[in-house]
Amino acid sequence: MGNAVTIGIPVKDGSERDAGDKCAPAPRVIAVSSGKGGVGKTNCVINLAIAFARMDRKVLLLDADLGLGNVDVLLGLDSEYNIGHLLRGEKTIEEVMVKGPSDVMIIPASGGEQEFTRLAAHERHALSSHIEGLKASVDVMLIDTGSGISDNVLFFNMAAQEIIIVVSPDPASAADAYSLMAALLKKHGERRFKLLVNAVRSKKEGFAVYKRVLFGVERRLSPFRGLNVSIDYIGSVLRDDSVGKAAGQRKAVVDAFPGSKASRCYLEAARTLSEMPVSKDLKGGLQFLWRRMLSANCNS
Ligand SMILES: Nc1ncnc2c1ncn2[C@@H]1O[C@H](COP(=O)(O)OP(=O)(O)OP(=O)(O)O)[C@@H](O)[C@H]1O
Ligand SMILES: [Mg+2]
Repeated sequence: MGNAVTIGIPVKDGSERDAGDKCAPAPRVIAVSSGKGGVGKTNCVINLAIAFARMDRKVLLLDADLGLGNVDVLLGLDSEYNIGHLLRGEKTIEEVMVKGPSDVMIIPASGGEQEFTRLAAHERHALSSHIEGLKASVDVMLIDTGSGISDNVLFFNMAAQEIIIVVSPDPASAADAYSLMAALLKKHGERRFKLLVNAVRSKKEGFAVYKRVLFGVERRLSPFRGLNVSIDYIGSVLRDDSVGKAAGQRKAVVDAFPGSKASRCYLEAARTLSEMPVSKDLKGGLQFLWRRMLSANCNS
């Protein structure tokens, strides 16, 4: 099984703009997912989004935890509309999108509506078309997929070019992460994952959890060993009460408590991620579509 720890290797990530280019480079589309719920995905997404924005990236955050999403709540945003209005054709993407901290563009999830907990093919297509029609340019798109192995979660993971799985030191979280990776591998042939370990007591514990997950994947996904599954380590985030306190203030911890342990971990993880090479391989039609449409910022 291939695996890689790429911390500290400075590699051009392809999302840097070259003033001489006629077309902006294709954006990175990154899904953030977990098997088990409550492991810290949404906090990872919002803090990574702000961290990327501070690196001068134009960031789009799609809250795809349809029905249960809370990105707008955690950031104290006054979002009148959500993805539901978009999917029902009632509002345009520009009307639905809200501006968050550091100018991160956010598409809020539909709150408490069962209607979209399993997107139909025409709704997936509509969503893709709406994003295709987005006028703003985007360097990085982050997707909070929600947890589990529902059709929606698998769909948004496959729609992304990169998949970050968030786990906590809780063994149940690793077990559910295997189930998610197994589902993505078996149903969609997905073989490349990135891992972020959240709520650890020490960086050492974070790396130990990463190694445990690697061994677990090898054991649990052994029938697929020949397929060369790889799991890159993006790092860990220390358990820190500042995360909850920031949520109480309706802010991301990187803004509310910039000097906190968790804040520094998120910034470090974003830096590591930004320095990782981006695979040019596209996995499927939708990714091609999203990357192409989001990168359609050509002057010519
Ligand atoms: N590094 C951390 N240290 C301390 N608490 C944390 C940390 N990360 C997340 N939390 C807390 O864990 C809880 C869950 O976080 P979050 O909402 O980000 O998880 P989630 O995976 O998105 O959950 P869900 O699956 O319900 O969407 C929150 O109360 C949050 O404040
Ligand atoms: Mg969440």
